Amino acid sequence: MSNTIDKNPIWKSLETEAETMKETHLKALLQDSDRCRALVAEHEGIILDYSRQNVVPGTMDKLFDLASAAGLQQKMNAMKSGAHINNTEDRAVFHIALRAPKGTSLILDGQDVVPEVHAVLDRIADFSDRVRTGKWIGATGKKLTSVVAIGIGGSFLGPEFVFEALRTDKDASAGASGRTLRFLANVDPVVIARALQGLDAESTLVIIVSKTFTTAETMLNARTLKKWLLDNIKNAASADIIRQHIVAVSTAIPKAVEFGISAENVFGFWDWVGGRYSVCSAVGALPLALQYGFPIVQEFLKGANNMDNHFFNAPLRANLPVLLGLLGVWNASFMGYNSRALLPYAQALVRFAAHIQQVDMESNGKRVANDGTYLPYECGEIIFGEPGTNGQHSFYQLVHQGRVIPAEFIGFVSSPNPVHLDGEVVSNHDELMSNFFAQPDALAYGKTIDELKAEGVPAHLHTHKEFPGNRPSLTLLFPELTPYSCGQLLSLYEHRVAVQGFMWGINSFDQWGVELGKVLANKVRTQLSTARTSGAAINGFNPSTTFLLQKYLSK
Ligand code: F6P
Repeated sequence: MSNTIDKNPIWKSLETEAETMKETHLKALLQDSDRCRALVAEHEGIILDYSRQNVVPGTMDKLFDLASAAGLQQKMNAMKSGAHINNTEDRAVFHIALRAPKGTSLILDGQDVVPEVHAVLDRIADFSDRVRTGKWIGATGKKLTSVVAIGIGGSFLGPEFVFEALRTDKDASAGASGRTLRFLANVDPVVIARALQGLDAESTLVIIVSKTFTTAETMLNARTLKKWLLDNIKNAASADIIRQHIVAVSTAIPKAVEFGISAENVFGFWDWVGGRYSVCSAVGALPLALQYGFPIVQEFLKGANNMDNHFFNAPLRANLPVLLGLLGVWNASFMGYNSRALLPYAQALVRFAAHIQQVDMESNGKRVANDGTYLPYECGEIIFGEPGTNGQHSFYQLVHQGRVIPAEFIGFVSSPNPVHLDGEVVSNHDELMSNFFAQPDALAYGKTIDELKAEGVPAHLHTHKEFPGNRPSLTLLFPELTPYSCGQLLSLYEHRVAVQGFMWGINSFDQWGVELGKVLANKVRTQLSTARTSGAAINGFNPSTTFLLQKYLSK
């Protein structure tokens, strides 16, 4: 039997604590101003208010005791020291090195990796500058003003999140003037039509982003776009088209070369960067530098590095990723809440939830401990989210009166795009933030039948209009959304995932669960090919899949 953390007496005591906290309404807890003041942490103007969690300071003491029992600090140190904590793949988890400043050092297997990180960043700075200024041109002499980044999962979601987050940043949007960046992830051919709409092949650069350079979707999309370039660029040699219009980001440089891309057009990274943690490598840095200019990427990396330093150096009790992680464990393992909503009150974070969904669920959606024994408890949470206020007009009904879903409200003091109409009582940003401040209280306090009676609500509507309240949330208030704070936000959520994994005693850095479906798709692909080319009968599938495949092929 595995020596999992639930065997520790402190786990039992937290289970008892949870029983008490379930009976203690947040309405009562929020009356205690000392408690509220105690449940706030701040780093560089980023405020984390967790007073709307079902905890009292004593609960936090117990959670920190659990953290000691789980060896949280030692595991964080091991991560920072470059130990191979991804034990099933025998790899270090070292994405922090991707944003370590020049001149610092981080040692992995006896070698300082920071110089090689910066060698690639320097190449990105140089290449993106040449493309943006027209020193690097297309095969027919045109400036490359459009970029299509092909990649999926971690080779897509992080870059897309940051791309969206910075679109309205003043400096980033100035840098993007006259430029287009599109992403091509899904293998659905519709996405090709959408990504290429209005693009001129002669002025388009294609980046193939794939850590392994084997992912089926990415490779088919890459072959499709290579053909699109070759078909649509006339009067140029194929070799020139490929050399000038296709570059790659990968750890598998020989495979990229096999595809036809010369080694000097491949931007490398390393197996110690997990796909979902790779946005700070060339995976994100290259497309973002091409779109916004390299200085924006540098700011983003600086912000991520700042949060890394906070994570590794701040005392655990004042440590934002640690606090988020412990509260995640509290809600999932003790309060019994298996999902979590990410609710940025910032449209620029429109793809934040999608990115964190992969970072979190691919990392912590596990069922065995590090040593491979089955876990006696569930871990991982179902992550979803949508920017406020859009979400309010969608799934908040369920959040207020249906299931209890711990919510994380993320807001900004100032807007990158301020609007205040004459005659309006508040600016548009204040209107947005009125909702940001109101929703957590609505969730926490709810509304009683007595209050409804006092308002004269007819009796037959009382239970319909009643809000039970006592629904936990936390608030993260940032000064503003900039490339720098976007980096901080990314690192904050990356590290909170690690904290939860460290607490649960799992390997958050492998992803064996995505393999089986890929293998079965290979079998279906072969069947579809033989059925279409030689009329081969459906063979080797269960009755349901056989029936569905027959239907699919019958047209
Ligand atoms: O879906 C599994 C996965 O391996 C992710 O972890 C990864 O981010 C994605 O596929 C893409 O992989 P690659 O960058 O190797 O194409």
